[in-house]
Amino acid sequence: MTIKLRDGRPMPRLGLGTWPMNDDQACQAVTHAVSLGYRLIDTAASYGNEAGVGAAVAGAGVAREDLFVTTKLRGSQHGYDAALRGFEESRARLGLDYVDLYLIHWPLPDRGLYVDTWRAFVHLREQGLARSIGVSNFTPEQIARIAEETGVWPAVNQIELHPGFSQRALRAWHAEHDIVTESWSPLGRAVKLLDEPVVTDLAAAHGRTPAQVVLRWHLQLGAVPIPKSSDTERMRQNLEVFDFSLSDEEMARMGTLDGDGRMGGDPETHVEF
Ligand code: A2P
Repeated sequence: MTIKLRDGRPMPRLGLGTWPMNDDQACQAVTHAVSLGYRLIDTAASYGNEAGVGAAVAGAGVAREDLFVTTKLRGSQHGYDAALRGFEESRARLGLDYVDLYLIHWPLPDRGLYVDTWRAFVHLREQGLARSIGVSNFTPEQIARIAEETGVWPAVNQIELHPGFSQRALRAWHAEHDIVTESWSPLGRAVKLLDEPVVTDLAAAHGRTPAQVVLRWHLQLGAVPIPKSSDTERMRQNLEVFDFSLSDEEMARMGTLDGDGRMGGDPETHVEF
């Protein structure tokens, strides 16, 4: 199951998140995930596990072109030249000829370098080293600015998204501009969300787990969730969400969980190196 990006390339509808995992954990998790059928793997320079992900990809026994590997530029490498260097370092750690999707991890507006950084991303795409390029944790204003200044729109904006923080306005804006919404912490880090009665009731009604109900909700919003799990059984269940659906009324019930449930950084102020 894939979704078509604005550059014409297909992206899997669901993937494996790898934060927080070290190299060994990531290698083990990704190896297992690929054997279960995961095809999208999400990492980042700042996670410190690209080498582990790369080792798993190399040994996965699946053709490279059938896998979709995403990584992200760390904040300390914003700027045109620094971004090109950051990419080369990631690519070397991953041991790959190209990455499928390269993202600016955070906009860091206080540094004022995300437009120059984006120019480097456009160059990397032209070279075929990053097949698709996108951003993460960007606001509509920030995206509009890079698009205006370079003429190139990001294919994806990866944002914090879960039922307690459903980002309705941002999702609508993405849809208007043909940007795919990718959801990080799609399970709300499994802190409280999976015990919410709305979720557990729907899980019981469908004979599914709470996590499966939440991931199904993402798919029906049109988002690409990347749940993290190091547990083989949970990895398996997180992928088994393509054979049932929530009704409009059930989606509306999930909507009652929406609120100001942000768990991670705010794109306007977050500083990350
Ligand atoms: P674990 O790695 O032990 O499975 P998110 O992707 O929203 O950040 O959530 C990640 C957290 O959710 C991790 O703590 C992970 O733990 C847990 N998790 C992942 N899948 C499931 C699941 N199917 N059921 C319960 N918890 C899960």
